[in-house]
Amino acid sequence: MSTHSVSAARTARLVGTLAPGRPAYRALADALRLAIADGRIAAGTRLPSERELTASLDVSRTTVTRAYAVLRDTGYLTSRRGSGSVASLPSGSRVRAAGSLFPADPGEGVIDLTCAATRAPAGVVEAYERAVTQLPEHLAGAGYLTLGIPDLREVIADRYTQRGLPTSPDDVLVTSGAVAGIGIVLRALLHHGDRVVVESPTYPNTIDALRRSGARLTPLAIDPDGWDATESARTIRAAGASLAVLIPDFHNPTGALMSDDARAMLARALTTSATIPVIDETIVEVDLDDADPMPLPFAAHDPRAICVGSASKSHWGGLRTGWIRAPKGTLPALVEARVTTDLGAPVLEQLVLLELMRAHPGLSPQRRDDLRTSRGALADALRTHLPKIGFRMPRGGLSLWCELPPHVDATTVAVAAEDADLLVAAGPRFAVVGGLDRWIRLPFVLPPEVMVDAVARLAGALECARAPRASGRVAAPATTRPDARGRRRPLVA
Ligand SMILES: Cc1ncc(COP(=O)(O)O)c(C=O)c1O
Repeated sequence: MSTHSVSAARTARLVGTLAPGRPAYRALADALRLAIADGRIAAGTRLPSERELTASLDVSRTTVTRAYAVLRDTGYLTSRRGSGSVASLPSGSRVRAAGSLFPADPGEGVIDLTCAATRAPAGVVEAYERAVTQLPEHLAGAGYLTLGIPDLREVIADRYTQRGLPTSPDDVLVTSGAVAGIGIVLRALLHHGDRVVVESPTYPNTIDALRRSGARLTPLAIDPDGWDATESARTIRAAGASLAVLIPDFHNPTGALMSDDARAMLARALTTSATIPVIDETIVEVDLDDADPMPLPFAAHDPRAICVGSASKSHWGGLRTGWIRAPKGTLPALVEARVTTDLGAPVLEQLVLLELMRAHPGLSPQRRDDLRTSRGALADALRTHLPKIGFRMPRGGLSLWCELPPHVDATTVAVAAEDADLLVAAGPRFAVVGGLDRWIRLPFVLPPEVMVDAVARLAGALECARAPRASGRVAAPATTRPDARGRRRPLVA
């Protein structure tokens, strides 16, 4: 049974202007298919009735009826008694319906570039071995460390102090990763219906988490080269939101780094409007060029900021360990919110992270070199083979945020790429209110030769996406193959 519906007005906005030169019902079916395929209309969502959609679009009832029929035939719509027409994904499609990113289980030969995360760095096995020798001293206790292992809290606090933000271990709560950390903050501070400012584009799981918390979202537009500080401050002041969730350090997906001046300006706007900043610092350590000193942590500009950190990008996602650094007096409320879903991070993984951070509090030199090499290989291959794709070379982070040539739709490319066994995330996944149809995110997290192969596959996908659709038939999803076990797989990590 469908639980969500999409209004006719929003559906009309998502459809936009129908492409000319082809039958209107085909153009409408294509536009709806793309919205369903990239998750802007999630599978399971009830679409407006034919009558409602006809009234919202400047088309005839027959156009809508025929478009819905095409979607039904191609598996993008099912009719359910009592629920009307419900969005669905054709079986065998690996295109995900929901917004969040999580690792796919790609088959052999598939290059998965949906995941902006790396394999474990060298030294992790040794760190586990050393951690096991530390374990006995914790075995006498219950192992429920809601705040985290004291030594780890201290190493994390020291890292903030090194970065220019004096921090005591008492300000730190160890979590099961940054997504879990953001969940704790939202449970502690957000009420259903509260307004939250969030960058667009941004990390899709944060958009999902906010929506599920009942937040009303105000997008803060971020350009490929970063924040327009004046405009961002205006947005913050106009929104009068409870929280603002920001990624100032190698923003995902653009890779942008917010300057100290912009941090100061945003901090003033946040303070004026009594909006608490929630700063996602998951990627802060992935500074690949370290030419200039890093800007100060956002909390140095706004002491009310709650910082959410993670070992996932600096060390390894498999540790499932992160932290929250909060202003004095805030931690008890966060702990209370935490224990409703999670009583603490695993002891062994905390000990492993302690070992790893003592060796390198941030990225190891080897990991930095590997990422730089892969970033260079991806950028060179794009410049050589796909010169019409635009991107800025970010100083850090894990991805290139790529602008496709005019009139090429990112979701169409993503679907065509899937047929070339390349999984990529299309721009709309990162959008708070739709759009970003000409952008794709390409993480440079795989070895250089794989990045070059990925660009070759992407070039093929772009050709397919550009080719005229002679019959008006939607080519890519119809040829999408199920995986070896016939399951539908998630597209994005
Ligand atoms: C901005 C951002 N926040 C959070 C996460 C997830 O962090 P964790 O693995 O620590 O839950 C990611 C991972 O891609 C990310 O890019």
